[in-house]
Amino acid sequence: MNIIIVNGPNLNLLGEREPKIYGSETLLEINSWIENHELCSNISLEFFQSNSEGAMIDFIHSKRKDVDYLIINPGALTHYSYALRDAIVATQLKTIEVHLSDIHNRENFRKISVIKSVCLAQYYGEGKQGYLTAIKHILEKE
Ligand code: DQA
Repeated sequence: MNIIIVNGPNLNLLGEREPKIYGSETLLEINSWIENHELCSNISLEFFQSNSEGAMIDFIHSKRKDVDYLIINPGALTHYSYALRDAIVATQLKTIEVHLSDIHNRENFRKISVIKSVCLAQYYGEGKQGYLTAIKHILEKE
């Protein structure tokens, strides 16, 4: 099983960025926590982060024939990127949307996800655990 985990803009600053909302761990720490979790022992995981919408889309395109699932936290692109939504549809990658924070209990603009309806599920408000919830979702469906 091959899964890519893609994080979008500003998530490279986890650990220093609004720690009350996003926690004190860096993205590197979160990624290695995921990678070393027993749930992932039989999964091939690849991590990618970019602050650029185009780079995220290029990465997703480049992996479209090689991976079984995409787990994505698109950051603020969640709320307005039809290009990212189109990339998920165009590649037909089975995708799960994850957010560290509870996007449904913050500013109104965060409640809207333009990618939600092209994803298998949306998980939010669980912190880093949300990525594992997405992996559990995948393993249960396989
Ligand atoms: C986020 C929520 C988004 O609204 C925000 O722009 C982010 C992070 C989250 O993980 O909670 O950058 O996707």
